[in-house]
Amino acid sequence: MGCQMNEYDSNRILDLTKKINYFPTKNLSETNCYILNTCHIREKATDKVYHDIGRLKKEFRNKKKPIVLIAGCVAQAEGDILLQKEKYIDAVIGPQSYHQINNIIKKLEKKTNSINFTEFEVVEKFDSLNLIKNSDSKISSFLTIQEGCDKFCKFCVVPYTRGSEYSRSMKELISEANYLVNNGAREIYLLGQNVNAYSYEGKKLSDLILEISKIKDLKRIRYTTSHPKDFTEDLIKVHKNCKKLMPLIHLPVQSGSNKILEAMNRKHNIEEYLEIIKKLVEAKPDIKFSSDFIIGYPGEMYYDFKKTIKLVNTVEYINSFSFIYSPRPGTPAFDLKKIDTTDAKKRLIEFQQAAESIKKKYRKKLIRKTVKVLFENKMKKEDKFFGRDEHFNSVIVDSKYDLTGKIKNVKILKGNQNTFFGEIISNQKQTDYAA
Ligand code: SAH
Ligand code: SF4
Ligand code: F3S
Repeated sequence: MGCQMNEYDSNRILDLTKKINYFPTKNLSETNCYILNTCHIREKATDKVYHDIGRLKKEFRNKKKPIVLIAGCVAQAEGDILLQKEKYIDAVIGPQSYHQINNIIKKLEKKTNSINFTEFEVVEKFDSLNLIKNSDSKISSFLTIQEGCDKFCKFCVVPYTRGSEYSRSMKELISEANYLVNNGAREIYLLGQNVNAYSYEGKKLSDLILEISKIKDLKRIRYTTSHPKDFTEDLIKVHKNCKKLMPLIHLPVQSGSNKILEAMNRKHNIEEYLEIIKKLVEAKPDIKFSSDFIIGYPGEMYYDFKKTIKLVNTVEYINSFSFIYSPRPGTPAFDLKKIDTTDAKKRLIEFQQAAESIKKKYRKKLIRKTVKVLFENKMKKEDKFFGRDEHFNSVIVDSKYDLTGKIKNVKILKGNQNTFFGEIISNQKQTDYAA
């Protein structure tokens, strides 16, 4: 569940458990160790855990129960409560403690009491993980370069569930990037809760991107999630100079109103945000943006909300992710007076209609245009291949030949809300992007 970082962690958990002969299975009924990697960002997070455990209990009603581990951000935030309320859970493991997972499983095989592992041991975690190869073999692979957050937006649980900002060393990251490329990765997605706050012995995200771009068979680099506060000139420049860096930036803004940004403790205002966008467009004219928005934050008036709509129309985001504000226990905003739920819902609908109409216009313009697609996999049934263009749009084409891992020029023929369908341009010389 949750963000890309959780997906990276899930892959690494599997790399670890393989060492003690626990392998992934698609068949729930044959599992002997069940791990739920959870997200705590919005409400109902814990309900989902209880719901999944309920399903598991049903499956194992007449059988010996598997070892049940709850990992991730819910484990960090509410570990004790989970263990108290649901005896079926054997252990909770926080995001900075999962390198201990094999010891925990070994202990539980012998059945001790339930265990709470939610210490912040981020240095120790990466030291342990560095010893084990990242066996991810996808064309587009995640690589966590930075974790945690020191920004403390008033609504957000991340600083409490992931701890303070920590950056991994350049050397270990380049080595892990090389593993991934040797395993077949052609695109690396650099991850961090504040990825552009990356800082290691004076080296920044821009340095890391340039270094990783030297890996010959790596064709594309992306990163997420960046914070406006850390969007420095060197990073803007790298968008101009590094051909392998893709021209889509996820730059969450949350609100278009300075009053609300201040109330949220976002540490940037709209003018500063728009200045970054302007500089990026100047550096790389085909750059596009996506963003996250919180609708109905405490104190948001209709005119504040209208400013958010105005911002969407100004920046013309190609993807917008919007959520009604959800009060999270333990965050400073938790006790603030909520706005009326019906109003918040209405605003969300109005927002999504505005964002959708911008997105539609953009997608319509792409029909009959040619895009460069990196193909990731063959579709299950037919001779169809799935890939993404430079702006991360999903594109499907027919092909009798294996396109996996290749970059091709594709003419877009049609599209729906989420996917484009196109044809490979054959009468044009096909060149790899990085060539
Ligand atoms: N580090 C990123 C975001 C991490 S959380 C950033 O700085 O923007 C992902 C998204 O979840 C946020 O961008 C925000 O839009 C949303 N989110 C976080 N806490 C929330 C809350 N309490 N209620 C509603 N949405 C929330
Ligand atoms: Fe949460 Fe704000 Fe940190 Fe993003 S910058 S993870 S929204 S506290
Ligand atoms: Fe969720 Fe934790 Fe990611 S709360 S969004 S899994 S950092």
